[in-house]
Order: sequence, then C-alpha cells, then structure tokens
Amino acid sequence: YAPPKDDFLSCLTRSVPPRLLFAKSSPAYGATWSSTIRNLKFLSDKTVKPLYIITPTDASHIQAAVICGRRYGMRLRVRSGGHDYEGLSYRSDKPEPFTVVDLSKMRQVRVDGKQATAWVDSGAQLGEIYYAVAKATPKLGFPAGVCATIGVGGHFSGGGFGMMLRKYGTAADNVIDAKVVDANGKLLDRKAMGEDYFWAIRGGGGSSFGIVVSWQVKLVPVPPTVTVFQIHRGVNDGAADLIVKWQQVAPSLPEDLMIRIMAMGQDAMFEALFLGTCNDLVPLMNARFPELGMNPTHCNEMSWIQSVPYIPLGKSGTVRDLLNRTSNIKAFGKYKSDYVRDPIPKAVWETIFTWLVKPGAGVMIMDPYGGRISSIAEDATPFPHRQGMLFNIQYVSYWFGEGSAALPTQWSRDMYAFMEPYVTKNPRQAYVNYRDLDLGVNKVVGDVSTYESGRVWGEKYYKGNFERLARIKARVDPQDYFRNEQSIPPLLK
Ligand code: FDA
Repeated sequence: YAPPKDDFLSCLTRSVPPRLLFAKSSPAYGATWSSTIRNLKFLSDKTVKPLYIITPTDASHIQAAVICGRRYGMRLRVRSGGHDYEGLSYRSDKPEPFTVVDLSKMRQVRVDGKQATAWVDSGAQLGEIYYAVAKATPKLGFPAGVCATIGVGGHFSGGGFGMMLRKYGTAADNVIDAKVVDANGKLLDRKAMGEDYFWAIRGGGGSSFGIVVSWQVKLVPVPPTVTVFQIHRGVNDGAADLIVKWQQVAPSLPEDLMIRIMAMGQDAMFEALFLGTCNDLVPLMNARFPELGMNPTHCNEMSWIQSVPYIPLGKSGTVRDLLNRTSNIKAFGKYKSDYVRDPIPKAVWETIFTWLVKPGAGVMIMDPYGGRISSIAEDATPFPHRQGMLFNIQYVSYWFGEGSAALPTQWSRDMYAFMEPYVTKNPRQAYVNYRDLDLGVNKVVGDVSTYESGRVWGEKYYKGNFERLARIKARVDPQDYFRNEQSIPPLLK
C-alpha cells in the first residue's frame, strides 16, 4: 500500500524530471522553499510548509502537476516572485498537505520591438522585463511596480502599478494575451479560454483561476529623457499643508507627471517621475504646485531605464541591479491598504504625523491616481479602483526579529482603525496585491470555499466585480481546486 502522497509523486515523475522535484527530505528543499521568501515573518519553524516543491522548466510540467494533483487530492500553491505579503504562495495558514509550483526557472522575456509587444513568463521578475525591453529599444518601457524583484505572475494577477500608473494604468491593463494551465490541466491561450476567463486573470488576484504560464503585453512609449526628484519636507516646515495641496493637485496633473509621498516619522518625501526634461518640468511645477519649491537643482535627468533602479535604490542603483534576483529585504512585515476619494483635512494630517512617531510606527506610502488608471471603466478589468479615486495608501509596518512583532502589528491595526472615517466606505476598498488576511478569509464547507465568506474580503478588493469573478470561478473551477485563504470562491447555482 502506498499512501496518497507517494501516488502523487510517482504520477509526477512520469512527466517531470526528478531534479525538478523536492521532497521535505531532499537536501535542497529548505533552500528552494526559502529562496524567494520576502517576508521573514514566514521563515519560521511554525510556518505550515509544502510537502513537495516542483520547479518546472516547461508548461507540460505544470500541466502534469495539476493533473496528478487532482487525481491524488494534492492541492497546489503557485509562486512566481514570492512577494505575497501574507506568504500565500508558499505557506498555508492552517495545516494541510500541499505542493508548491515554483516558477522561478521559467522567466524568459521575448520582446518584439516592431510590434511593441512582449511575451513574458510568470517567473520573470519585473526588473527582467524592464531590462529586456530597454535593451531591445530605448523608446519603449512597461508600466508595473517599483521593486525589481517582484514576480510577474502574482503582480499582473492583482493589477500591478508603479511610477507610470497615471500615464499607462496598471500592468494588467496592458496585457493582451496569456497562457494558462486550467483546473483540468489544459494549456489555454486567450482565444481558447474566452473573454470572461481572460478578464478574470487580469486583476482578479493570483491562484484562483489556474496557473498563468506567460503573458503577452503591450509595451509603451517612453521619451529619451525623464526627470526624477525627491524633496523632503518636515512637519515643522509645513508638511501637512503641502500634503493638503498635493491631494488636490497630484491626481489632476498632466499624466506625464507622478508625484507620490512617503511619510515616515516627522518627514514627508515627495518623489516624482516626469516623462520629460527638467526644462519642461520646472515651469509645470511652478504653475501647478509652487508651494513645493521645486527648482532645477532638484532635477535628476536620465533615461527611463535608469530611473527604474534609481527610484527605489537612489544614486547607487544601476541598470544591472534589475537582473539581481537576491533581495536585500531583511524585514518582517505587516501591510495594509486604503483608498481615498475625498481630501483629508489638514488637522487630520497633523494627527497622522503624531501616529507616525508612536511606538511601532511604520511608513505610509501614497500613490496618486487620476489620468489613465482612473479613466478605465470600473468593470473593464477586476481592478475597480478607478474614477474619482484621489490616491492609494499603503501602511507598511516592519520589524527585525521574531520577538519584535507586537508593537508594529498593533500600530498597523490601530492606525487602520483611526483612518476609517477618512477613506472609502461601503466597501472600504483595498488593493489585492497588498494582501491582508485581517480583511477576512474563506470558510470551506463541503470542500468548497463559500461565496458568503469570500464576499467579506472580496468586495473590498473588487467591489461589484467580485460577483462576476465568482461566477467565472464556478465555470472554470467549480470544485474549487485552486484555492487559498483569499481565493475567489465559486458562485454555484
Ligand atoms: P507570489 O509569487 O508570492 O504570488 C502572489 C500571489 O499570486 C499568490 O497568491 C500566488 O499563489 C499567486 N500567483 C503567483 N504566480 C502565479 C501565476 N503564475 N499564476 C497564478 N497565480 C499566481 N505592488 C504594486 O502594485 N506596486 C509596487 O510597487 C509594489 N511594490 C512591492 C515591493 C515589495 C518589496 C513587495 C514585497 C511587494 C510589492 N508589491 C507592489 C506587491 C506585489 O505586487 C504583490 O505582492 C504581488 O502579488 C507579488 O507577485 P509575486 O509573483 O512576487 O508573488
């Protein structure tokens, strides 16, 4: 008699070379599992780990994992870049047997400069697309997240935005085709999966509808010179007044200009990417936001591809860093998000700055919307945070040792409670790529996640699009094979 897990394994070894399979007893299991863990909170003995890890090098290996998994009752979790804030791509919240399909060996980027398109494998990191596109032609770029090590698979699945969101929307807004392994182990492209299914995978969150192997994206024009500035302003130097003005100005500036804010302690940093030269930026800033005092000494002119490492890493960041897959993130973290539609009064910003110096205080990152991201219809993709949205807030709490979680975690919850009156309501919207299990988790009844339990967190991420996602889930995966704590439940009749 062989226990079921061995049946799964022997099924798998008929299609997948053993060097791509890791059991808990394999010497390389630990290093493979931890290779892309970006939240050290989950690098713990208490974490529920996979029984096996598969590192496919071909779509057929992924198909075999799904077929064998379904046949022998082994659930799969898929990991591309491992940046999930709650670690759902490589751990389970509750004890259960599962296998991780780790796509880090599938990361080709094929650029077609003439057509301004590219096919990108899910296991590529964002830096690898940016690099390949700029190498093919410096006239093109791609709008996605700020950190180069983020995986394409998870990022595109939830939307994905960065410094060009006002000009070109989310990464998912620029996807034109995809290849997916569905719950029957079939490999489908856009034509074969149909428009509803294709709609769902462009923002409906990872891991609900199948395993996306690769994505075809539309590349976007970038000018020869862009300008970056970073201007700090302290609370005693009028930071609250400036933020009040920023709320009004930043979402309505020309789409070529994005000014985001990072607020930490008693400081607000205004960080901008302008798709143009310093000569054009200075008069625009003087006309629209003179209070910031921006002048030519603040300008850092460079090519678009140089701006990509510059923004997170500063002057030390180089274009080669975009290919570096070893992350220097050494933090344990808890993350939450909000959306703001109505300007927040100055007195509240002053109070927010008192929160930012409380014990355990983290950072607030605010990305303005408006422009392209806001002009797309709310139901055009599952990502619903569109018209009239002023900005997104990300609350980042972090700490540096297993025993130090209490204060930052409490700060994160208290800060979130304090902000409630000033952010979107009914639902209080949140961004799925800033995954937060405090918003709710699925209940499983009769081996299927229930629609009602999913609605609790799902309408926050997707608003009215949640129901359509659940109907599509019922059609493509009615038995809820692809599931995790926050996967879309099937809306069964
Ligand atoms: P990971 O592999 O952990 O997957 C995330 C989720 O998607 C999991 O549920 C996983 O199962 C599923 N999934 C992964 N691959 C899949 C596939 N091929 N098919 C189907 N499902 C799949 N966001 C943003 O919009 N802008 C930003 O600038 C940043 N910056 C940022 C910095 C840092 C340091 C971190 C840690 C995170 C961000 N993020 C972000 C959030 C980021 O977009 C989010 O965590 C993405 O889901 C990460 O995608 P990965 O593939 O890396 O994650």
